[in-house]
Amino acid sequence: MPVKIRAVVLTDAESLRECWDAVAQERRYIYSYEAPPVSDVRTALRGSSRKKNPFLVAVDGDRVVGWASVSRAEIPSLSHNGHLTMGLHQEYRGTGLGTKLAAEILKVSRGRFDSLTCCFFSKNKPARRLSKRMGFVLCGREKKFGKLVYGFDDQLVMQKLMRG
Ligand SMILES: CC(C)(COP(=O)(O)OP(=O)(O)OC[C@H]1O[C@@H](n2cnc3c(N)ncnc32)[C@H](O)[C@@H]1OP(=O)(O)O)[C@@H](O)C(=O)NCCC(=O)NCCS
Repeated sequence: MPVKIRAVVLTDAESLRECWDAVAQERRYIYSYEAPPVSDVRTALRGSSRKKNPFLVAVDGDRVVGWASVSRAEIPSLSHNGHLTMGLHQEYRGTGLGTKLAAEILKVSRGRFDSLTCCFFSKNKPARRLSKRMGFVLCGREKKFGKLVYGFDDQLVMQKLMRG
């Protein structure tokens, strides 16, 4: 079945949690080592919907195999900025799905944020290549930021200006 990209709905919570948990348990790409309980995922989805934050999922049938979301900073002085996170289930990587998901989330974020940031570990080559191709530029490096399965790694902070 072809993978589709669409807005997340509350009933995705369980499957989204499974996908999130699989990526987290790799201990290589995202901060958490495991996903939170499904009740917390539901709460997060309700909050995201209330705040009208962009949140897309890639689905293979009913199964969530990836996500891309932008959260708006809540502090008024920072609320023109959004933070992008993405993840795909391991078996769906490296075939262009991340590129499509990134293009879609940028499309739905256009006109709604002055800038987007995204952060990832320095050894994450697909994320580096993808973010550069999508117009993100490196604006910082936090040394030994993450303790991962392969040891410590620096975090790269990337930013894309969305206006002007
Ligand atoms: C980062 C991620 C979303 C990219 O999605 P993807 O579908 O794997 O990537 P694509 O197939 O669209 O390719 C994107 C780029 O990475 C490159 N790439 C893909 N797999 C690669 C690999 N294993 N090694 C090196 N480069 C790779 C592609 O050649 C492409 O480069 P280009 O833009 O120069 O052509 C995905 O790999 C992922 O979910 N990783 C785990 C979670 C994560 O790292 N999240 C980011 C931190 S929030």
